[in-house]
Amino acid sequence: MAGGPSTPGLVTTAAEAGGMGFLAAGYRSVEEVVEQVEMVQRAGTTVFGVNLFVPGTRPTSPSDLAAVRTYRDRLVPLARHYGVEMPRLDPDDDRAGTSGADDDGWHGKIPALLDLRVPMVSFTFGCPPADVVSRFHQVGTACLATVTSAGEARRATAAGVDALVVQGPGAGGHRAVFDARANPPEQSLDDLFGAVRSVVDLPLVVTGGLTAPEEVRPWLGRADAVALGTAFLDAEEAGTHPLYRAALHDSRFTQTVVTRAFSGRWARGLRNGFTDAYSDRAPAAYPAVNRLTGVLRAAAARSGDLDNLSLWAGTSWQHTPTGTVAQIMRGLTDGLVA
Ligand SMILES: Cc1cc2nc3c(=O)[nH]c(=O)nc-3n(C[C@H](O)[C@H](O)[C@H](O)COP(=O)(O)O)c2cc1C
Repeated sequence: MAGGPSTPGLVTTAAEAGGMGFLAAGYRSVEEVVEQVEMVQRAGTTVFGVNLFVPGTRPTSPSDLAAVRTYRDRLVPLARHYGVEMPRLDPDDDRAGTSGADDDGWHGKIPALLDLRVPMVSFTFGCPPADVVSRFHQVGTACLATVTSAGEARRATAAGVDALVVQGPGAGGHRAVFDARANPPEQSLDDLFGAVRSVVDLPLVVTGGLTAPEEVRPWLGRADAVALGTAFLDAEEAGTHPLYRAALHDSRFTQTVVTRAFSGRWARGLRNGFTDAYSDRAPAAYPAVNRLTGVLRAAAARSGDLDNLSLWAGTSWQHTPTGTVAQIMRGLTDGLVA
């Protein structure tokens, strides 16, 4: 879970409790990723993975840029309210995220992770290129791809991955859809699992909207593994911001929405003032929109203002447990025969 929640401590304790945690390489520099992996390795943890954002392939068009400019104009009053300045939008400036050059450090992270010989990498936001998968295999690293449709499952399988994470529509955070502009599929996790199962013969991990023990347990007997995000957001070892933790248990939030308002890519989070005000015309322009709203989200965090924070959460967030990773895992699996 990029953006803070995934930490070396969460990953190490998940392994100790019989699970497998993933460090989030997304939004981090190569140096930060290396540092976090080395912390996990120094702790003696051998069962863990690192998650990567596959960069988009489509360049930013003039109409994309125009849409981002219009969106920026809409956000200016909020920036004034917080007394912060919105980033400039220079089409040739990588820092604006509009040049098409922002690959989240992909070209630095791949060689760094190959050198670190991590046990597993997982990919989201796109199909990992076959040559990258093959280079990871050469150093003994297994590869997982997150998919949201049977078509994506076929493509990832053709790229040579070892297993698939099948992400259903209830998932918290960003939908993994390969085409950043496509609307995320609404097929239920159950139907999607069946559709993927019928077209590929790889181990399948299910994820999305599974937070309560009653939601997780049936899948443990059906899928090869279950991946959870929201269930660990309020774990003691997570790096989740205190305001975000509090929001997960705050009764003023009554539903989640899937919105592009914060990042320019579809993601599910708690419905708040920002999602209500800006979801309708947010352009499909990741990472430019993410950059734009970054200053606003930081200002909202400084002001303790939950209405302008991205509060990513799956549909079953009301069951978010508290406690240590070990306690949470016990709560989810107690009474089950291994
Ligand atoms: C705060 C947050 C951050 C996330 N960051 C990532 C990420 O960096 N990479 C990724 O592949 N998935 C990410 N996800 C999605 C999860 O991998 C997973 O698909 C989702 O949490 C499953 O749904 P659930 O939250 O209902 O368990 C994130 C989810 C959340 C809630």
